[in-house]
Amino acid sequence: MENKKWYKEMSVYQIWPRSFCDGNGDGIGDLKGIISKLDYIKSIGVDAIWFSPLYPSPNADYGYDIADYKDISKDYGTLEEFKTLLDEAHKRGLKVIMDLVVNHTSDQHKWFLESKKSEDNPYHNYYIWRKGRKPGKEPNNWLSTFQGKAWEYCKELDKYYLHVFAKEQPDLNMDNPKVREEVKSIMRFWLDMGVDGFREDVITFISKKEGLPNGFPLPTATGIEHYMNGPHLREYLREFKDVLDEYDCFTVGEAPMMTTKRALRFIKEGDGQLLNMMFHFEHMSADNIITNWIRTPFNPGKLKKVYARWQKDLYGKAWNALYIENHDQPRIISRYGSEKYRVESGKMLATMYILQSGTPFIYQGQEIGMLNANLPTIDRYKDVSSINTYKLFRKFGISDKITMKFCMYASRDNARTPMQWSAEKNAGFTSAQEPWFEVNPNYKSINVEQAENDPNSILNYYRKILKFRKENDIVKYGDFELLKTQRKLFAYVRSYKGQKLLVINSFSEGDMPFTAPKDFDLEKAELVLYNYEDNPVIHNGFMTRPYETRVYFLK
Ligand code: GLC
Ligand code: CA
Repeated sequence: MENKKWYKEMSVYQIWPRSFCDGNGDGIGDLKGIISKLDYIKSIGVDAIWFSPLYPSPNADYGYDIADYKDISKDYGTLEEFKTLLDEAHKRGLKVIMDLVVNHTSDQHKWFLESKKSEDNPYHNYYIWRKGRKPGKEPNNWLSTFQGKAWEYCKELDKYYLHVFAKEQPDLNMDNPKVREEVKSIMRFWLDMGVDGFREDVITFISKKEGLPNGFPLPTATGIEHYMNGPHLREYLREFKDVLDEYDCFTVGEAPMMTTKRALRFIKEGDGQLLNMMFHFEHMSADNIITNWIRTPFNPGKLKKVYARWQKDLYGKAWNALYIENHDQPRIISRYGSEKYRVESGKMLATMYILQSGTPFIYQGQEIGMLNANLPTIDRYKDVSSINTYKLFRKFGISDKITMKFCMYASRDNARTPMQWSAEKNAGFTSAQEPWFEVNPNYKSINVEQAENDPNSILNYYRKILKFRKENDIVKYGDFELLKTQRKLFAYVRSYKGQKLLVINSFSEGDMPFTAPKDFDLEKAELVLYNYEDNPVIHNGFMTRPYETRVYFLK
């Protein structure tokens, strides 16, 4: 039933390299810095590292605009150093997962530079070029997800190229078999070197509908219905999977707006499987509508429903990828938890998602409870999507003050400030005068050194919970049942081979009554994880305290 696999057993640490650790003192995170922190990463109890892009890039979108898929950015080091890193990671039993960004390249990639030279250039059809509908009018009404038109005009060719992200990120023409051969060659390059898998960036966007018809008008991302889960997606993924199957590797595909029903068409186990797991976004919308920029109050009811659906619909058929933070999401404590109850809510959030069935991903800084940067003025932002969205809001006549409120809450830059290692200058991230991006001023109290010295820190809790997961198959393979509780409590039971695990999480700043199901005797069950030191139980119930978490094991 459980169909065990190494990638189901593992948990993964995500590194966004620019802000992780600077090894050579130029203010930018790099491979040397990462190598110096491998023992730390291992000590958390993870089994793999996913690297956000390490490749040469002009950084219009900080690495997600790739200029060379088979090299390492000079900012980060050399290919030789990468091989050392790979070796050092493997020596410690850590797998290495690369980011595969093939929906688009950088506009500085040699393919694109060739592509725009002439229509006869062998690389011209590597990208999606079209004539305007009439002079000065784009080929269709599509808008970029990063704001503005999805088409950029090239005077020399009198044609437009498509970019569903920034204009520096032209979309590849995946319908061209040569482009698909390039993708396979990139995969082989890294797999032959020894990497263990890929996180596939917006992989569900790679096939565009024939004829590129106009899209339903939206303020942003118009046309998305014509390229998300497009007509040839499964076919192209099949081609890629045949290459991947030559190796013992793993894939997780990023999949915006994915539903369980559709996901199963990609990740259902068996011969037809195209990806091992998917990063869906549904649980990241418990405080917004579709995008972080349309904010609503945090709704724990919505969160529970989404999780219960993914747990149930995939159980025994496919595998969940579990995450609550990454480089695109504001910090989770600032969103679903409470900065006031930082430590309590940080531990509760860890429990809430890591004890579900699936492979947990942990984003750098999440394990020490880093918070949003909340930068108050737009000139301090680095992220292209935040800067462009700011401009769009202002264009719609929204005041600077209100727009900044949105930025402070929704910007991806919240998660991209340098990792906080210590209370030293620049949080110990760099010895340079100035880091490439400002450090969150709370580093004096929130940092790795502090967390190492405090047995009750969030970091030490992550260590405990990952160890618990590793040692207990019930966490990985048990089934999942959502309990009916107060709206702000999220309690579930995992069951496996006669064992039961009761997981209770409070999203409330106040006290809430909780009663365990009848077949559970809290007084006999073993309390295995908790975030308050004393844990009273009266018969089968107790009052949960602010952001309390408790996990009971019934063997
Ligand atoms: C993905 C990445 C994001 C990037 C975008 C375009 O969503 O996670 O950081 O900006 O794709 O590559
Ligand atoms: Ca550096």
